[in-house]
Amino acid sequence: MRLSTTVATLAIGLAATARAAAPAAHAAPAAPAAAAADTCLSCHATLSDERLRKPAELAKNDIHLTQGITCAGCHGGDPAAADRAAAMDPRKGFVGVPAPRAIPEMCGSCHSNAAYMLRYAPNIPTDQLAQYRTSKHGIALAKGSTDVAVCSSCHGAHGVRPPSDARSPVYPTQIVATCARCHADVALMNKYGIKGNEVAEYEKSVHYAALTQKNDLSAPTCKSCHGAHGATPPGVSSVANVCGTCHVSQLEKFDQSPHKDAFAAMDQPACEACHSNHAIVHPQDSWIGVGDKQVCAACHSAGDAGAKAAAAISGALASVVAAEATVGARVAHVKRAGMLMDPAEVKLQDAHQAYIMATVEIHTVTPTLVEKQTNAALADTVAADKDAAAAEREIRFRRTGLFISLAVIALAMVTLIFKIRSMER
Ligand code: HEC
Ligand code: HEC
Ligand code: HEC
Ligand code: HEC
Ligand code: HEC
Ligand code: HEC
Ligand code: HEC
Ligand code: HEC
Ligand code: HEC
Repeated sequence: MRLSTTVATLAIGLAATARAAAPAAHAAPAAPAAAAADTCLSCHATLSDERLRKPAELAKNDIHLTQGITCAGCHGGDPAAADRAAAMDPRKGFVGVPAPRAIPEMCGSCHSNAAYMLRYAPNIPTDQLAQYRTSKHGIALAKGSTDVAVCSSCHGAHGVRPPSDARSPVYPTQIVATCARCHADVALMNKYGIKGNEVAEYEKSVHYAALTQKNDLSAPTCKSCHGAHGATPPGVSSVANVCGTCHVSQLEKFDQSPHKDAFAAMDQPACEACHSNHAIVHPQDSWIGVGDKQVCAACHSAGDAGAKAAAAISGALASVVAAEATVGARVAHVKRAGMLMDPAEVKLQDAHQAYIMATVEIHTVTPTLVEKQTNAALADTVAADKDAAAAEREIRFRRTGLFISLAVIALAMVTLIFKIRSMER
């Protein structure tokens, strides 16, 4: 507590200094002038021990330096004193290397001080420390664990960059590795009754593939589902909401299903039952049913209402898949024969769209609702099939027409030859 008070006092003192110096800083935005006078920085930059020099080297990439905050901003001491002992004098608030337990308070002394942050960066929220205290990390830290993440485990202590910087350890494409430093350490995780396979499982998911292969920054990383500062498992009742922030339609359909109340009564997280939580893969029609490896089998068995619904749903989907395949092939065939098939192709696209809607509708597990979509899809394939049939008739007609005209030409030629011969004679 003594430390936090010291740092808080220091932060306020620093704020006052910065305010006094504000006009100068504005006149020279890069503001290296303040940094040059900083003895902590200049002395540490010359030290041969890498452990002591590195923080000074990283300072030039530190977001804090843009506001003139250097070493003393976090460590305290007197950045104007040239003498080592005077600069690093505990009586001037110098704290040396903070213990993990003290770090959230150190960072929070500025970051949860709304009045202070407002003066520098009004758009940065000031709730990190408050959230952190509610997280599994914060709770364990308060109980004395030194294994958990503190602010600097995720952001670094030196060379701190804004989260929007692609080199920041909390940037979407970097964050998995940041959490993995501890969460992929099975021995460490087992100490806390956690499997430690969460990262490996997540790396098998469509989400991870979208992030790393398609560079899709909208795909969820650890912090999208767990939160960053308030990191905690979502808990049974909120899993659906977490997934539903991105998969809105599926959540809406799930909420219409008999599963909504049934799962809640069973303490069964909504989407996880069929999709798992970390190793989420691309789902397929073949999942629906009560056979081996089919998702409904976890809770339903042959003959019950769920199994019957599954059979009806998978039958409806299968009929569309079959129709799309045969009609698609027929349309492609007449197209190769030279016919313009654009309208039929549009109908097939509509059919596929309705089929995709049906795969969303399966979340209601209500056959009549799924069939509404699959029937629409089938109607589109029937219409496309009619176009193909008409085109085939057209081809036959053209072939017959061609045959007749060829016959007429041949007849004319033969007559002509006879005529020429009779004239020659
Ligand atoms: C004239 C050189 C000099 C100045 C000025 C100086 N330091 Fe140091 N600092 C050192 C040396 C040498 C060490 C390692 C030996 C020691 O701990 O005294 C060190 C150690 C440290 C450590 C690590 C302590 C530990 O326990 O490992 C921190 C943190 C630190 N300095 C921060 C600061 C800050 C903040 C300032 C400015 C307020 C500052 N230093 C000013 C030379 C300097
Ligand atoms: C934003 C806050 C912050 C600033 C600014 C900061 N430090 Fe630190 N420093 C920390 C924290 C937190 C640690 C604890 C170790 C860790 O988590 O990496 C630390 C650790 C250290 C250590 C010990 C490193 C080790 O591996 O044992 C040294 C030396 C040090 N700081 C020096 C400096 C110097 C010199 C500066 C200025 C160039 C500076 N720090 C600026 C927060 C800061
Ligand atoms: C002396 C006050 C102070 C302390 C102590 C401090 N910060 Fe900061 N920090 C700031 C200010 C002011 C900014 C805004 C800089 C800007 O955007 O111009 C900032 C910005 C940041 C940002 C970038 C936020 C963004 O969205 O751009 C991160 C991340 C950050 N700090 C992390 C930390 C961590 C981690 C610690 C502790 C190791 C820490 N800070 C300690 C004052 C402080
Ligand atoms: C478990 C990892 C983790 C810990 C611990 C952590 N952060 Fe963060 N922090 C993040 C991530 C990830 C972001 C990116 C923004 C987001 O998604 O919330 C972030 C963003 C920030 C920002 C920028 C917020 C913004 O919206 O611009 C600040 C400031 C910050 N953290 C400060 C802190 C402070 C102070 C602490 C300690 C009390 C801390 N962080 C602890 C992971 C962490
Ligand atoms: C420095 C190591 C470290 C880092 C980095 C770290 N964690 Fe943790 N985390 C832990 C430890 C240790 C626990 C166990 C705490 C407990 O259960 O008391 C934990 C617990 C958790 C829990 C609670 C699990 C449960 O079942 O109780 C979640 C969720 C979590 N971390 C998410 C994250 C996320 C997301 C990140 C990255 C943004 C992250 N952690 C980064 C060490 C870390
Ligand atoms: C798509 C959402 C999602 C993503 C992404 C995600 N998780 Fe989870 N995670 C969950 C859900 C859901 C649970 C289970 C919560 C429950 O059942 O109450 C969970 C549980 C956990 C647990 C607790 C496990 C236990 O045995 O108690 C940890 C630790 C964890 N996740 C870490 C991570 C890490 C690290 C990452 C990144 C590699 C990550 N998660 C990515 C959704 C996600
Ligand atoms: C932050 C947004 C976000 C969150 C949260 C999220 N997802 Fe996703 N999800 C995506 C994105 C983006 C894709 C698309 C990946 C791609 O393009 O391959 C996706 C893909 C999927 C897919 C595969 C779709 C397909 O057609 O192959 C499934 C299944 C899925 N998510 C389920 C879940 C579940 C279950 C949860 C909660 C545990 C969840 N998602 C949480 C954004 C999210
Ligand atoms: C009862 C099992 C079950 C539950 C519960 C479930 N899903 Fe699905 N989900 C499936 C099946 C089966 C498919 C594959 C449909 C297909 O392609 O035929 C699927 C497909 C998906 C897809 C891929 C796109 C699509 O709709 O075809 C996403 C995204 C998705 N589910 C998200 C969710 C979310 C979010 C939740 C929770 C609100 C959830 N699912 C709950 C079984 C389930
Ligand atoms: C995690 C367990 C679980 C899974 C997985 C699951 N269900 Fe259910 N389902 C239930 C429970 C519990 C009920 C409500 C009690 C009951 O009627 O059996 C229910 C009810 C139903 C009902 C309503 C039954 C009625 O009597 O009106 C249908 C239909 C249904 N499920 C279909 C499915 C289909 C299709 C799947 C696979 C895509 C599936 N369920 C997967 C647990 C599950």
